[in-house]
Amino acid sequence: MSDRHPEFPLAEDLVYLNHAAVAPWPERTRQAVAEFAEQNCTYGAAFYPDWLKKEALLREQFKALIKAPSADDIALVKNTSEALSFVAYGLEWNAGDNIVTSNEEFPSNRLPWQSLATQGVELRQADLYAAASPEDALFELVDRNTRLLTISSIQFATGLRLDIERIGEFCKRRGILFCVDAIQSIGAVRFDVEACQADFVMADGHKWMFGPEGLGVFYTTPEARNRLKLTQFGWHMMKDTHNYENKPWEMHPGARRFECGSPNMIGIHALSASLSLLLETGIETIEAALFERIDYLRERIEQHPELELLGPAPSHPKSGIVVFRHKKIPNPALYPYLMQQKVICALRGAGIRFSPHFYNGLEEIDRALAIIDHYPA
Ligand SMILES: Cc1ncc(COP(=O)(O)O)c(C=O)c1O
Repeated sequence: MSDRHPEFPLAEDLVYLNHAAVAPWPERTRQAVAEFAEQNCTYGAAFYPDWLKKEALLREQFKALIKAPSADDIALVKNTSEALSFVAYGLEWNAGDNIVTSNEEFPSNRLPWQSLATQGVELRQADLYAAASPEDALFELVDRNTRLLTISSIQFATGLRLDIERIGEFCKRRGILFCVDAIQSIGAVRFDVEACQADFVMADGHKWMFGPEGLGVFYTTPEARNRLKLTQFGWHMMKDTHNYENKPWEMHPGARRFECGSPNMIGIHALSASLSLLLETGIETIEAALFERIDYLRERIEQHPELELLGPAPSHPKSGIVVFRHKKIPNPALYPYLMQQKVICALRGAGIRFSPHFYNGLEEIDRALAIIDHYPA
């Protein structure tokens, strides 16, 4: 195991297949954080203007990564849940309105909407396998009272990847707002906010983007963000941010209006370093390398007499996630065994979830599967 990618000096005995949960940091991110720590200890915030440049750079990096028209469409948020709550509590609802989603969303994309029941808003949860296609299953729940459709572009527990361009087109035609939890897509596969005609897109940085926890992206179109009433307030969301005597104040015209106070500067330094790796490598290259690993993994699972591929189905588009089970070893026994053998993975849905990234070696996949074969009888 000496062929580690130079940016990922993970422990030799580790097989890291858990990027759909929390990813390791690249070497350059370690360095960025170490330098930021050193600077803070030695000079305090004397270089704050440079930090602001880093913050501006991170918005530009996100703009490039998700193909946003402007860096002004990017807010830096705590996490996906916060951004979803901004949308749920920013929109004006009427009793009788409904929201359409799937019945397999991560709780972050369910709880905020369910909580609107107190305002008479219904959350409709489609069974994505109950119609001709997952998209059709969503469309079948839409009626005249549907105000918003919210969906994870890739489902966390099955790896099912939705055709968000088709969903976006459907929503646009009917005047329904379209919200995409893109945490399982951005950094793994190509993602284009304009092509999918999304009004709101959110993702945290600690999965496929290799960032630390606690810093994510919230994209809004100018029209969509103007429909959101603000739910948090503080100095940083003013148009004239550093004019503290600014009374009365004007709201920032861009998405920065959703950032009420001091930025997560250490997170910004870390995530900017991580995104620089993605952007330098190129998301097309990353997606192609990831799919090569996914194809290999799926093939190996399909050829294995004792493993059963659970998702995504071969007829569905590829994502960075593969879920499988062992026909003889129950998941609750196999999962802790794999973790103890240092195959870092997750227990999700009906099986074991492997989520490699572009830098994993194919031999690591062989090693993980060989470890399964050595499960003590
Ligand atoms: C689809 C999806 N949404 C959201 C999250 C996490 O949300 P947050 O960024 O608020 O922690 C996860 C984490 O596993 C996820 O898989």
